[in-house]
Amino acid sequence: SHPPKTALSGSDRDSFGYATIQSRLPVIVSKIVDDVYRAYHRLSDADPLKAQKEKEAKGIIEAIGGLRYELQRDKPFRPLTDNYPDVQEWNQALSDHYAGSSWFKASWLFSECYLYRRIKEAFAMTEHWRDYDPFFEQKRTVFKSSQKAVVAIAGRLMSPVRSETTHTVEASSSLDILISGGPESKGTEEAFFELAQVCLWGNATDLSLLDNPDLAKVEELQRRMMMSSNSTPASHNSSALSLDEGALDGAQAELAKHADKILQNDLDQLWAKVKSLRNGRIDIILDNAGFELYVDLVFADYLVRAGFAKEVVFHAKNIPWFVSDVMPFDFQWTLDQLDPDTATSEPFFDPSESTEQLALKDLGRKWKEYVESGVWKVKGHNFWTSCYAFHHLPTLPSAQDLFRDTAQSDLWIFKGDLNYRKLVYDCKWPTTTPFTEAIGPLASSEVPSLVTFRTCKADVVVGLKADVEERVEKEAKDWMVSGEYAVISFSP
Ligand code: F6P
Ligand code: MG
Repeated sequence: SHPPKTALSGSDRDSFGYATIQSRLPVIVSKIVDDVYRAYHRLSDADPLKAQKEKEAKGIIEAIGGLRYELQRDKPFRPLTDNYPDVQEWNQALSDHYAGSSWFKASWLFSECYLYRRIKEAFAMTEHWRDYDPFFEQKRTVFKSSQKAVVAIAGRLMSPVRSETTHTVEASSSLDILISGGPESKGTEEAFFELAQVCLWGNATDLSLLDNPDLAKVEELQRRMMMSSNSTPASHNSSALSLDEGALDGAQAELAKHADKILQNDLDQLWAKVKSLRNGRIDIILDNAGFELYVDLVFADYLVRAGFAKEVVFHAKNIPWFVSDVMPFDFQWTLDQLDPDTATSEPFFDPSESTEQLALKDLGRKWKEYVESGVWKVKGHNFWTSCYAFHHLPTLPSAQDLFRDTAQSDLWIFKGDLNYRKLVYDCKWPTTTPFTEAIGPLASSEVPSLVTFRTCKADVVVGLKADVEERVEKEAKDWMVSGEYAVISFSP
C-alpha cells in the first residue's frame, strides 16, 4: 500500500481540488493585492524609506498579478527565483517530478503548496517586505470577531471558585479544581472529552474556506459548535467545565449533537494513551491562527495542568501558509492580545474588568509563563511548508533534524485539514481504508503515537466503517468538504 493510490488532482472536474484551483485560489490571491495596496498607502510620509518601500510594493502587486494569470491560464510551473533557504529543494522537486506540469494537471496538494511558496517568493525578492505576512490583517480581524467565544471560554476555565462554606473566593480556577483529582478522576476524564472536542471543532472556522469571511457566520459556528452563549461565572460543581447548570447543559448538548458528525472517533483510544502519560512530551502540529489556536492552547493548558505533559511543543509555519495558518509571530501576538496590558497598540479585546475578562487576562499571563519557562515551546521548520507529504518525514534528508527531535515525543497531535491531507498523502483512498494504512511509514514503531483532529474540507476521508459513507452521502452530498463533519483518527 505504499506508495499509495492516485493523488487528488485539479484535473478531476468534479473534485473540490478543481473547485479550489478554479475559484477559491484566485480570490485568495486577489486579496493579497488589496492588502499590499492598503499597506503601502498607510506608509507614513515621515518614513525616509517610503519611496523604496512603495516601489517594492508595486513590484509585489505585479508579481502577484502575474501569478494569478499563470494560475487561471494553467501555465506550466516555473522554478523559484528567490533565495529563501528551501529554494533548492523546491526547484529539485519541480524538475524531478513536475517538469512541464501545471496547476490543474499536477497533484492538488503540490499545486496548492506551490502557490503559497510562490506568494512567499514575491515578498522574499524584496528588501523591505521580505517578512511581511499578507494574511495577517485577515487573521487579526477574524480573531477579533471571535471575542465573545474567547472570553466566554476563558470565563469557564479560569473563574475563581467560591468556597461553599465560607463564601470566600479561593485561589484556584475551575479547571484546576476539576483536574485536582488527578489523572484517574472523573472530572479529569470529562474535561478531556469536552476540551478535545472543542479543540477539534475549532478547526471548522479557518479562513481559506470562508473566502469571504462573513464574521457573523464565524460567530454562529463558534456558538453552535461549542457553547451556550450565556456563560455565567462558575459555581463549584462536578461538571466538566464548572458552568452553572443551565449553561452547561447547553454547551454539552451542543457537543453531544455534533458527536455523530465525528465519522471516525478514536477519542477513547486517545484518552487511554493520554492518561498513561506522566510528565510526558506532547507535540502539536498547529493549523490555524485565531480562534483555533486559542482552543489548541486551552487543550494544551489542560494537558499540562492535569500532569500528562511537562512539555508541549507547538509546530508553526515559517512562511504565510494557506491564509490562516499559525506563524511563530502569530503565536506570540495571540498571547499578547489576551492581556490588555501587553496588547500591541490599543487593547485588542474589550478591556472591561468583568470576571471573564479578568479570567482571560490570567490565562494570557499563565500561558506566557509557560513559554518563558520552556513548558511550552514554539518551533518552526521548513518541512511543514515543503511540497512533501508527511510520509516523507522519516526519510527526507532535510527533515532529519525535525524527525529526530519529534521522535522523542510521546504523542503527536495534528490539527486541521491540510495536515490530514499530508498525513494520508492526499490520495483517492476508499473511505474504508484503515487510517494506519493510509499514513504509511508513519504507522511504524519508530514514530510516536499520533492523532489527527480534522474537520473534513477536502475529498479524502479514511478510516470509516463500511456503511458510513452511504449514510452521510444521503445526509449531505458535500459531506467531505463542508467542514460540518470530522474525524479523530489515532495511530498507536
Ligand atoms: O484549500 C485546500 C485546503 O486544504 C482545504 O481543503 C481546506 O479548506 C483549507 O485548505 C485548509 O484547511 P485547514 O486550515 O483546516 O488545513
Ligand atoms: Mg490552515
